[in-house]
Amino acid sequence: MPATTGMKGGGYYDANSREQRSASDSFLPWLEAAIADLPAPTESQSSWNVLDMGSSEGANAIYTMNRVVAALRQHTDLPVWALFDDLPTNDFNQLFLNLFPDQTPALTAPDVYTAAIGGSAFGRLVPPRTLHVATTFNAIGFFENKPQTQLPHFVLAMQPNPRAPREGVAVTPEELQPFQQQAHQDLCEFYSARAAELVPGGKLLVQVFGRNENHSTGHGICDVLSDALLDFVEADLLPQTFYEDFLFPAYYRSTQELAAPIEQIPELASAFRIEHLADINAPVPFNDEFARSGDRKAWAKSYTGFLRAFTEPVLAAALPAELVAEQIVDKIYQRIEQLLADNPERYEFHFISIAALLTRL
Ligand SMILES: C[S@@+](CC[C@H](N)C(=O)[O-])C[C@H]1O[C@@H](n2cnc3c(N)ncnc32)[C@H](O)[C@@H]1O
Repeated sequence: MPATTGMKGGGYYDANSREQRSASDSFLPWLEAAIADLPAPTESQSSWNVLDMGSSEGANAIYTMNRVVAALRQHTDLPVWALFDDLPTNDFNQLFLNLFPDQTPALTAPDVYTAAIGGSAFGRLVPPRTLHVATTFNAIGFFENKPQTQLPHFVLAMQPNPRAPREGVAVTPEELQPFQQQAHQDLCEFYSARAAELVPGGKLLVQVFGRNENHSTGHGICDVLSDALLDFVEADLLPQTFYEDFLFPAYYRSTQELAAPIEQIPELASAFRIEHLADINAPVPFNDEFARSGDRKAWAKSYTGFLRAFTEPVLAAALPAELVAEQIVDKIYQRIEQLLADNPERYEFHFISIAALLTRL
């Protein structure tokens, strides 16, 4: 079973994900330039097939798909299949509503056809050698399966942030190992599936939240989540065992980890050439607004909305049903917002966005 059921639906993710769009944006020019190098269409080719994986409710995915299609249209009039994939539990109704607002297509170029696919990006999604362009943004950091190992003294498979210490919060290198292995294995499966699906010369842009030598995207967000849960444990509102069992099922990779399968596994090394590999400290809209206004309450509100959009489904699924009925979820996010407003320095957030552009050989 996938480790997440997806984002908070009903338009909530769309309304609280400017940060993810900002993190993807810097890498789109790589793909736009690479599209000029796609092999010329074969005699029998009737379309360009583009797949985005982890599209969620679609606002950001449609924006990036429009950019990809516009780049294709500079070179060719062939019809385009715009395919959007996510986990079967995703809010696909919202995705289709976003694709056709007011009955007009949101993908504005002519001769573009849309379809959605339910399935994990760590497995096969389309028939062999049918894709020309594949993209994924802010998605493949979620584990395929929740690792069976416990991490009793933190909520994330990562060393806790030294800038936000708390007594009892700790992770040992030995505890981290199974998570690192699972993240590596997931990525090997992701690349193997795309190697089968892409045509020779096809392009794969992989972007995801990650870490560099200075910061991790997981810090700040998981520190405040951990602090709020521990506050509830200390106030006897949550059992200690809940904190010990709870894990936010994401892994924040370095660029080295993103490239490792291609560099280490002979079948993948012969399937892909790495054209670009980089990390950036992406602009974060709620931080920029805070820098302008100094309004810490507004910052805490936007930060909480951003965090809630991708953590609430996981948190709600892990909480005992009777506590969910008592609106504990709302209370936890209220606590998070309060902690953020009171301690902006402790929960500083940096979006380290990592990416690779690959060509299928
Ligand atoms: C943070 S959202 C990103 C949405 C959009 N790509 C963006 O950049 O704003 C992550 C999405 O990835 C999806 N996801 C997580 N694991 C996945 C998997 N194994 N296969 C496909 N989608 C997955 C989630 O359901 C969620 O909709």
